[in-house]
Amino acid sequence: MGIALVTGGTSGIGAEFARQLAARGDDLVLVARDKKRLDAMAAELGALGRSVEVIAADLSDEKDTARVATRLADTAKPIDILVNNAGFGGLSKLVNPDIAQQDEAYAVMMRAVWVLTAAVATGMKERGHGAIINVASTAGQLSMGAYSSIKAWVITYTESLANELHGTGVTVTALMPGWVRTEFHERANISSSSIPNSLWLDAERLVRVSLRDVDRGRVISIPSIRYRLLSWLLRHAPRSAVRAVSRRISLSRSRAATQTTSPQ
Ligand SMILES: NC(=O)c1ccc[n+]([C@@H]2O[C@H](COP(=O)([O-])OP(=O)(O)OC[C@H]3O[C@@H](n4cnc5c(N)ncnc54)[C@H](OP(=O)(O)O)[C@@H]3O)[C@@H](O)[C@H]2O)c1
Repeated sequence: MGIALVTGGTSGIGAEFARQLAARGDDLVLVARDKKRLDAMAAELGALGRSVEVIAADLSDEKDTARVATRLADTAKPIDILVNNAGFGGLSKLVNPDIAQQDEAYAVMMRAVWVLTAAVATGMKERGHGAIINVASTAGQLSMGAYSSIKAWVITYTESLANELHGTGVTVTALMPGWVRTEFHERANISSSSIPNSLWLDAERLVRVSLRDVDRGRVISIPSIRYRLLSWLLRHAPRSAVRAVSRRISLSRSRAATQTTSPQ
């Protein structure tokens, strides 16, 4: 039992981490932009008898990220678990010269992950324990634009950090979900109608299995047999086959999006 800080702890996967960590007995620090939702989540978890701090912060903003880093480095109230979860999809095409959205994605899903982890890791090392969980994606094994590139970075970064912290008592885990029913797709305006039901994961089960993997010190957590098999195939298939699969998924999504938005 300790204190866990969860970024994006008000919705989807992050909210599920917050609920399950609270149920295990951890106090929480929740970070997201929407203060009303942060307060609602704090009230929900507070009812379980947990102490909950909220930090309204936009992780695409360097100053806001620095505020969260300051909290993570506070040795008077040490953080035992950091869940780098905040993120979003629906990034524009790589050939689009306007890269504002890619800049924001880089700031939230790469820069903030790095800054927040560095802020907490030294203290964790000194205390000889702690857990860092980075929410990546199976998309990081595909070649589907900026989102895939970012999540591929998260996987490599996590494995490198695990090497750096090896033997210190601090565990580092990359969680690689497949498709999970959250607000993610709607917020990003991504059509998910073409995704078969069998490929959807349940956030409650995903987080439960990933926390078990974290307790076992696993560096990579893929909490479903279907996706573990898929991940194995993606690692062993020729890259040309991986690119072809990625093209098919991207195409089926854009077709479904056209049908959804078509006036007919
Ligand atoms: N759902 C999937 O199928 C899926 C699959 C693989 C990986 N993932 C990854 O899982 C993570 C969580 O996604 P989710 O599916 O749970 O999505 P979600 O339901 O849309 O939740 C996203 C959370 O991140 C917060 N957030 C977004 N932008 C932020 C910013 N600039 N600063 C601070 N907080 C921010 C949101 O709160 P505010 O809007 O209030 O800031 C919200 O709490 C993401 O990293 C995503 O890439 C999702």
